[in-house]
Amino acid sequence: MKPKLFLANWKMSLKPSEAAVLAKELVAAVKPPADQEVCLFPSFSALATVSQIINKSPLKLGAQDVFWQEHGAYTGEESVLTLKELGCDSVLIGHSERRKYCGETDEMVNKKVLACLEAGLRPVICVGETFEQRKNGQKDFIVMQQLEQALLGVSLTKYDRVVVAYEPVWVIGSGQAVAPEEAWYTLQVLKHFLLNSYAAETIQNQVSFLYGGSVNPENVAGFFGHEVLDGVLAGGVSLVAEQFSQLLKEVS
Ligand code: PGA
Repeated sequence: MKPKLFLANWKMSLKPSEAAVLAKELVAAVKPPADQEVCLFPSFSALATVSQIINKSPLKLGAQDVFWQEHGAYTGEESVLTLKELGCDSVLIGHSERRKYCGETDEMVNKKVLACLEAGLRPVICVGETFEQRKNGQKDFIVMQQLEQALLGVSLTKYDRVVVAYEPVWVIGSGQAVAPEEAWYTLQVLKHFLLNSYAAETIQNQVSFLYGGSVNPENVAGFFGHEVLDGVLAGGVSLVAEQFSQLLKEVS
């Protein structure tokens, strides 16, 4: 059984001192049962501090990005080696904000996914359509294409773990999530699409499918009403310990 995943993307919302306070609050408030996994994604500058704080708790650590080379002259970047030394388990890759503001391309996403898997880190591959693309009826095509490009050359050995997070770009931070049925439909499209490249058993056991975009304690339980969904990627709501722990309780 794959655990239910609750990923907390803190984006660039907190200074390291604030991230430390939130991490301490979450360690105290969040006691995930055996079938739930919680992973926090602070910004790079807070990784070391948060890592120390959650060290003896069941909470896991993730990074919001990574570079594909292991070391060298790559000003401003961080490698898989650094993330591993800091205790990271997972890495967000291709979040729509990175695609939009930092020019992240499908090719870069693919290199990062390959680097993560090579290093034993779990890539969280983010895919999603803009409102424009959706209006033009391109949603399924766009998300399949993003996933296909992200996984080019990825063969998935039995040790590899991958997360696919469907996040409609226009819904992120809007306060208005899509209907659960729509998230399930899109995740099923993506799951079926992966059958072109991987065995059903591999997908079932090693790939987790998440929804992200304005998830909150009021709507979260509805998303877990279908077996295609393995978890959620939360932004805004993960910045308040009380709300995030309430989110988990709603699903227990
Ligand atoms: P949101 O962000 O929950 O604030 O919509 C989700 C995300 O960007 O991962």
